[in-house]
Amino acid sequence: QIQGTIFDLDGVLTDTAEYHYQAWQRLADEEGIPFNRQANEALRGVSRRASLMLIIGNRRYSDAEIEEMMERKNQYYVELIKNISSQDLLPGAVSLLDQLRQAQIKIAIGSGSKNARTVIERLGIADKVDAIADGYSVQKPKPAPDLFLFAAQQLGLAPSLCVVFEDATAGIAAGLAAGMWTVGLGPGERVGAAHVVLPNLAGIKWVDIRAKLTRYSR
Ligand code: BG6
Ligand code: MG
Repeated sequence: QIQGTIFDLDGVLTDTAEYHYQAWQRLADEEGIPFNRQANEALRGVSRRASLMLIIGNRRYSDAEIEEMMERKNQYYVELIKNISSQDLLPGAVSLLDQLRQAQIKIAIGSGSKNARTVIERLGIADKVDAIADGYSVQKPKPAPDLFLFAAQQLGLAPSLCVVFEDATAGIAAGLAAGMWTVGLGPGERVGAAHVVLPNLAGIKWVDIRAKLTRYSR
């Protein structure tokens, strides 16, 4: 059975994935590196450093230049999220969090972002979650299971009692590697490896997800 949920943040509860894209696009433009929305697909849910590596490809940069570019991208991102509010929660997000609270299911955020706490506070959902695992919690980024295992530990739950909600291929891989149930949000090409795949959280009923996962486990 399921006693805990772990939510990715960017692209699941809010569409900050778009702001990450815009910040990378600005950096790439400044550096004269070809980059576009389609290339950004490969960056969804990927850590800051790994994202930059994908953007620069085989171009040569010093460690100092790489650090500077990561910092610059983050400044652009921080600027873009300055005005986010509860208006930026994706449809169905608050309803699902409230249903989970009602059902006494624990809730954690499992985001690889160092900006996760700021975003959670601005979205106004800090008091709706029991634990936060973010970009400072573990060393190894998704698709390693570490971040979700850390989140489960914070909730005091075994991984097998937790379900992960994710919009990224790397995130579903991380959830599966952690031995957790997974709900993929988005197109099958992206999250098809998940136990349950849904387009997004809109209109989602916790009892329906629970039923789908229970059927799966028999
Ligand atoms: C993930 C995002 O949540 O966090 C990625 O999906 C991002 O796009 C990663 O690269 C790291 O975030 P940050 O804010 O620490 O650069
Ligand atoms: Mg995401």
